[in-house]
Amino acid sequence: MIIGVPKEIKNNENRVGLTPAGVAELRKHGHELYVQATAGLGSGFQDAEYEQAGATVLPTIEDVYAKAEMIVKVKEPIASEYPLIKEGQLLFTYFHFASGEELTHAMIERKAICLAYETVELPSRALPLLIPMSEVAGRMAPQEGAKYLEKPLKGRGILLGGVPGVKPAEVLVLGAGIVGTQAAKIAAGLGAQVTVMDINLNRLRELDDFMPKNVVTQYSNEYNIRAAIKTADLIIGAVLIPGAKAPHLITRDMLKTMKAGTVLVDVAVDQGGCIETCKPTTHEDPTFIIDDIVHYCVANMPGAVPYTSTLALTNATLPYAVKLANLGWQKACQQDAALRLGLNVVSGEVVYQGVAEAWNLPLVDVSTVLEGAEVN
Ligand SMILES: NC(=O)c1ccc[n+]([C@@H]2O[C@H](COP(=O)([O-])OP(=O)(O)OC[C@H]3O[C@@H](n4cnc5c(N)ncnc54)[C@H](O)[C@@H]3O)[C@@H](O)[C@H]2O)c1
Repeated sequence: MIIGVPKEIKNNENRVGLTPAGVAELRKHGHELYVQATAGLGSGFQDAEYEQAGATVLPTIEDVYAKAEMIVKVKEPIASEYPLIKEGQLLFTYFHFASGEELTHAMIERKAICLAYETVELPSRALPLLIPMSEVAGRMAPQEGAKYLEKPLKGRGILLGGVPGVKPAEVLVLGAGIVGTQAAKIAAGLGAQVTVMDINLNRLRELDDFMPKNVVTQYSNEYNIRAAIKTADLIIGAVLIPGAKAPHLITRDMLKTMKAGTVLVDVAVDQGGCIETCKPTTHEDPTFIIDDIVHYCVANMPGAVPYTSTLALTNATLPYAVKLANLGWQKACQQDAALRLGLNVVSGEVVYQGVAEAWNLPLVDVSTVLEGAEVN
């Protein structure tokens, strides 16, 4: 298959859809690779590394789209890319169609095959192509929190780990899923005293078994949250209710009960946030202050660490990209139920329920677009 990797052109996106290692792997399977010049630079990969791995470097994004049967990228195409997309071209990337009406209509019109990373779903209901970014954001959250707890950055001026003779900081993590677990682990590693809350008792049992002694678990309810935020120095929001807006576990009135200079890192801000006063911010201007409480609410945290994020993402996407290239999208999606759930828009038809519902569009059964498919 002919595979193209364009440079990401969305504002501040430094990740890239394939690494030189991914190119080498796909070459091993006999595929042809075309990478746009400087596509990997933001993540630390030079054009020469792609060439050494077996790709041809093309000067423009137009060249890449014109050549490729499959485009592998990171973010959804933006408006200037729409006209470059060809009928029947396979696009393997994040799309988030349910929050992009214009994008949905554009992809329908282009008659592309849109396989969205975010809806590839394993039988366990895990989302294997979202997990790596949650891991990155989770591990970043205490790091960012520690930074903004410093006095010059308007925090309380407390060191997460304390020092001998001085108590460490208290970290409260709301949600014990992927983000919350990684956040708790890193905060504990830095020496903080960590409390993790969730409404899933089984999850708290698991954490209790493998977390170090400076992590305690507590059931999440308003009573416990109100008590814990009074002494917390850093609060990390990591709650998710699939398919819904995050619940506001910390409301505006609660800020007054916290210590001045407490830092809130609401990782769940991309789903509306679990802290009422959080509004999405950017890496250029990540924080704001309300009632002396520092709010950090960057909606694309992994964007700040493109090297780690690109490697983490492509570790997860590459096996699927290889399968799509080896078998073609139809056969690959017939054989792999997880991949099949990634199909969102196919040749002008919406085949993913959430997208059809979001924009009131007709839903076509995915089996009808999988020619001669024996879908099980
Ligand atoms: N800002 C970013 O850059 C960024 C990056 C990655 C992920 N995220 C977001 O982080 C959030 C968490 O993602 P995840 O992968 O950890 O999800 P997850 O599904 O693995 O975990 C969510 C957890 O929240 C728990 N929960 C639900 N209601 C709760 C409540 N009332 N109190 C306490 N816990 C509750 C669930 O039981 C679950 O354990 C999502 O909104 C995700 O989109 C943001």
